[in-house]
Amino acid sequence: MRRRLAAFWPFSIEAGVIRAYSSALGRHGATPQGVFWNSAKSQNARFAALLAMIRAHRSQADAADHPPTIADIGCGYGALYGYMRRRAEYADWGYSGLDINPAMIRSCRQRFPDGATGFEIGARPVRPVDYALYSGTFNLCMIDDAARWQRYILDQLADCRPYCRRGMVLNLLCRRQMTITNNIFYADREAILYELRCRLGDIHVTATPGLKHDTTVFIPV
Ligand SMILES: C[S@@+](CC[C@H](N)C(=O)[O-])C[C@H]1O[C@@H](n2cnc3c(N)ncnc32)[C@H](O)[C@@H]1O
Repeated sequence: MRRRLAAFWPFSIEAGVIRAYSSALGRHGATPQGVFWNSAKSQNARFAALLAMIRAHRSQADAADHPPTIADIGCGYGALYGYMRRRAEYADWGYSGLDINPAMIRSCRQRFPDGATGFEIGARPVRPVDYALYSGTFNLCMIDDAARWQRYILDQLADCRPYCRRGMVLNLLCRRQMTITNNIFYADREAILYELRCRLGDIHVTATPGLKHDTTVFIPV
């Protein structure tokens, strides 16, 4: 409940983000443009890269003993859920979607009435899961203080970690210097990876195939 009130608080760091996504969803509906992606192609490329990291982790000894559960944090209108449902290899994976934006969650519940109970307003899993997955969740930034936004990202990941049994995976946009350009946050790649290691320990990093500036990071738990 505290979390819900914080998300609605008009001066919170998230308030501008919620307004911006509500406006995009209102203009473009449940489409990639409705969550500020350029195309379904780039949206799907991120899904493929993030899920590949989870599958790689599961292929290691003792991680593949049961179908995993994932929490899609910043699920938007539920595109990842749709992506997974169209692919047999994810048929037995457990899925829950979370988003701080109530309009996004309403859209998910309307689009997927059968999975409606799996979508919740929030920023971390309601109950423990094997993996948390963040696709584009921290890209849009509606403040002008990049260092503060980076601290926010690190805090969000640290808060989520206790709910994850196996790991967390996210994408980050990176440039040589940390910057916010057109409300998109770009991290200084080496600096944020250093901070992630300091806060969360060992990480695995890969350039996201086919996506400029995009890095995929896996954080084992
Ligand atoms: C770029 S969109 C991506 C949506 C979806 N992951 C996809 O790839 O189609 C980012 C989403 O993350 C949500 N979001 C932003 N910050 C969040 C946070 N701290 N916790 C949960 N959701 C967040 C936004 O409301 C938005 O729906």
